[in-house]
Amino acid sequence: MNNSMEEEKSKALVELIYSWIQEAGSRIRSHLNEELTVSTKNGRDDIVTNVDKETQEFLIRKILEKFPEDKILAEENGLDRCLDMSGRVWIIDPIDGTLNFYFQRENFAVMLALYVDGIGKLGFIYNVMREELYWGGAEFGVYCNQTKLSAPKEPRLEDGLFGMNSAMYVQNTLHAHDIGIRTMGVRTSGCAGLEFISLLKGNTIGYISNLSPWDYAAGVVLSHEFGFISSQLNGCPLSFDGREYFLIATSPAYEEIKGKYIS
Ligand code: IPD
Ligand code: CA
Ligand code: CA
Repeated sequence: MNNSMEEEKSKALVELIYSWIQEAGSRIRSHLNEELTVSTKNGRDDIVTNVDKETQEFLIRKILEKFPEDKILAEENGLDRCLDMSGRVWIIDPIDGTLNFYFQRENFAVMLALYVDGIGKLGFIYNVMREELYWGGAEFGVYCNQTKLSAPKEPRLEDGLFGMNSAMYVQNTLHAHDIGIRTMGVRTSGCAGLEFISLLKGNTIGYISNLSPWDYAAGVVLSHEFGFISSQLNGCPLSFDGREYFLIATSPAYEEIKGKYIS
């Protein structure tokens, strides 16, 4: 296939995923005034609702109708391990920020990423209540809806706000508190997707949390386009296998953290 045919194919794929996510978002919005069915997973603050499950089922149905051979790594319903990242793998967080969704009915996101042989090709983060879809990848750059974004500035650690998991900050997990107090201030949203959006907009310069692959898969695809650097908080590469302490920051902030806090 020549280059222009490849480009057309990629654009068509983006349009298709875009339509799935918008439809997922309007289905979620249609449930906002209903009573939700909630169950707990690994503790009283780890909840899942019927809408999380329905959204995941909807996205998987759309993906497999079109690409029946592809692999799925998704948060709910026992699809949360992918032992082999070879080939095409779709990574889904049907509602990121479920506690916000349940208690606030806002400040949550739908996230979807496509990886091929372990490399992030496309990332989508949808702020459902604002109807803002951040999407992109190496072939496209980064967009919010139809508007192409430019890379934000790359401030040093001491010159910007930093997204932070509140428990890690309080407990100084792997120097999270030490890092936080070097910045202009820490911010906590309770939604990894919104934290990545803050990075893309230049509102924050980094983010530290305890994340699973579906929490960071789309976000790292998008933020790497703008030069952010990510790893586990101990400096090791992200594993895409289970929860891990996660770090992403502008290049100067990342280098400072690496030099001072990662041994
Ligand atoms: C959670 C959120 C939260 C982060 C947690 C995640 P969920 O995702 O992204 O910000 O601190 O680690 O599990 O469970 O609401 O999809
Ligand atoms: Ca999540
Ligand atoms: Ca989720």
